Amino acid sequence: MGRTTPGADPVLSLRGAAVRVGGRTLWSGVDLTVGAGEFTAVLGPNGVGKSTLVKVLLGVLPAAAGEVRVLGGEPGSHSGAVGYLPQRRSFDASVRIRGVDVVRLGLDGDLWGVPVPGLGRAKRRAARERVAEVIELVGATKYAERPIGQCSGGEQQRLLIAQALVRRPRVLLLDEPLDSLDLTNQAAIACLLGKICHLEKVAVVMVAHDVNPILHHLDRVVYIAEGGAVSGAPADVITSETLTRLYRTPVEVLSTSDGRLVVVGQPEAPALHTDRHATGGRDAGI
Ligand SMILES: Nc1ncnc2c1ncn2[C@@H]1O[C@H](COP(=O)(O)OP(=O)(O)OP(=O)(O)O)[C@@H](O)[C@H]1O
Ligand SMILES: [Mg+2]
Repeated sequence: MGRTTPGADPVLSLRGAAVRVGGRTLWSGVDLTVGAGEFTAVLGPNGVGKSTLVKVLLGVLPAAAGEVRVLGGEPGSHSGAVGYLPQRRSFDASVRIRGVDVVRLGLDGDLWGVPVPGLGRAKRRAARERVAEVIELVGATKYAERPIGQCSGGEQQRLLIAQALVRRPRVLLLDEPLDSLDLTNQAAIACLLGKICHLEKVAVVMVAHDVNPILHHLDRVVYIAEGGAVSGAPADVITSETLTRLYRTPVEVLSTSDGRLVVVGQPEAPALHTDRHATGGRDAGI
């Protein structure tokens, strides 16, 4: 399934990587290679270190062991080419800044408040057009002129995805971008990300709780468990055998008639892996 050109340099790579936070090793021995135009999901229960993996790729947290490379350099060394959507972001109702300005911050946020001499009319127009284009791409045109605090959670989410995309990043790191979206919007955003990834050759790494909305777009999955991780093509990794070995507890992967996957395991764990908007059914939380 991978779309990496044979011999092409990977966009992201981890080799025997480990991370420590608060004096504790969250995971170690993690290997992952992502090429241009590949879509990777990072999955696993709460607290295993999914967001921490994203922080390592951003270069805000060093790996404790192994090698991590992003766009051929140290993580953080090409930050202009890396788009990032952090986990659980929302704006208070009192926030007056318009959606369109939030997206614009993604383009020149580092220059916020700094007068930019020489930024001519043509460049300003190009910036305005890019912002409008990306807002249209995520389907947020209708509400982009409103204060973002007055937009719904899902609308804010789309505007923030537009912000992460506005610089035409080569790598897009998204921490639970489908959070707070209903099923229809999850599918629409998954489709949009799949398109950006495969048509524009952006490497997308996305932390997710439910693999189903993105399953058909994925080239790779990384399942993180306490201590380690396993990565590979979805069909190889999301199996009862692989996940049972990784989590050291019986895990069963069931396939529904409509092609969705249900991961069933420890009954006491919260239902996280399947769609959180659906009712019924308990699963492993992985
Ligand atoms: N700076 C820190 N100091 C100490 N512990 C930390 C620090 N940052 C994160 N942790 C801990 O590391 C673990 C992994 O955190 P992380 O946010 O990566 O989890 P996650 O897999 O993204 O979970 P979730 O699904 O809840 O978002 C958690 O137990 C968290 O409390
Ligand atoms: Mg997280």
